[in-house]
Amino acid sequence: MTEFKPLVFSGVQPTGNLHLGNYLGAIRKFVALQENNDCIYCVVDLHALTAQLVHEDMTTQIRSITAAFLAAGIDPKKHIVFNQSQVPQHAELAWIFNCVARIGWMNRMTQFKDKAGKDREQASLGLYAYPSLMAADILVYRATHVPVGEDQKQHLELARDIAMKFNLDFREKIMPTGLGVDITVGEEPVHAYFPMVEPLIDGPAPRVMSLKDGTKKMSKSDPSDLSRINLMDDQEAISKKIRKAKTDPDALPSEAEGLKGRPEADNLVGIFAALADRSKADVLAEFGGQQFSVFKPALIDLAVEVLAPINAEMRRLMEDPAHIDAVLRDGGERARARAEKTMNEVRDIIGFVR
Ligand code: TYM
Repeated sequence: MTEFKPLVFSGVQPTGNLHLGNYLGAIRKFVALQENNDCIYCVVDLHALTAQLVHEDMTTQIRSITAAFLAAGIDPKKHIVFNQSQVPQHAELAWIFNCVARIGWMNRMTQFKDKAGKDREQASLGLYAYPSLMAADILVYRATHVPVGEDQKQHLELARDIAMKFNLDFREKIMPTGLGVDITVGEEPVHAYFPMVEPLIDGPAPRVMSLKDGTKKMSKSDPSDLSRINLMDDQEAISKKIRKAKTDPDALPSEAEGLKGRPEADNLVGIFAALADRSKADVLAEFGGQQFSVFKPALIDLAVEVLAPINAEMRRLMEDPAHIDAVLRDGGERARARAEKTMNEVRDIIGFVR
């Protein structure tokens, strides 16, 4: 083997309503990537236990994320769509990665610090180990490319560190199996069992910001519903939220440079560009010099045009939970077969008897 086979993997947590940030930062990219790649998309239900253990509506949430995947255009027959808990190999590899990762690495994770808040002693051990399970999600398929929003960048760097330490620590054991791939890291040749994952973060909206504050990320946990557009919002709600979105008094600039220091304008232009599959420069070439009173109605029309069909299809799918469950079961079965192959190789590399 000379190269890792390209494989796309990503996951979304079944917690709260999906919003435009999840759609533009992740799901829209999932759809585009399936054209030319083998893809695995996962509803990460085990991760959903990390911040809150008991979820009244866990089952509905899992189905709702799955419905969003399908409604957005992911093909579960050509690719794999499943929920994480159906493939116990994720948790098994995460345990091994817990023994690879160093506490110092975990202590640097900004998302843990944010989510744990002031009372860190009360955070769950799962929340602390969250990035280790995330690395296992990806590497249990030896996936190479991971489409995510910018907030996940640090977690993917950790996944690379974990992969590299495993490759180096088990170097002598990987070599004779011939299961690895020769790569160079810096100057050093390494016979790697796990690939160095490539984050796919680029695009005009890698970090969609709150509609109420252009310096804060659009988030499920923001107490103000006006701060985000939910995928389940109807036309009226989308229109109201964009009309009420914070802006500044100036006209739009003609070039992207002019968005510097104007976070709300930058955010709305980025959203427009991502929804229209255009660059920010291209959008500004059209709207430069125009006021928000002209730009916002155009953005409303575009957002409704893109989101309304997804919204309608999600509602239709949610009326047939048996179909959604069947999709997940079928995906789970195929994912399990692939993950078990990796785990058998990992068990052999470590030297477990099987
Ligand atoms: P989650 O469910 O919190 O977010 C799902 C995806 O949405 C992206 N995202 C955003 N992108 C742009 N702007 C925003 N405001 C915004 N908010 C959220 C996130 O970056 C993410 O891509 N840890 C992951 C779930 C996960 C995972 C994985 C991802 C678990 N295992 C393995 C990739 C590979 C997460 O944040 O989910």
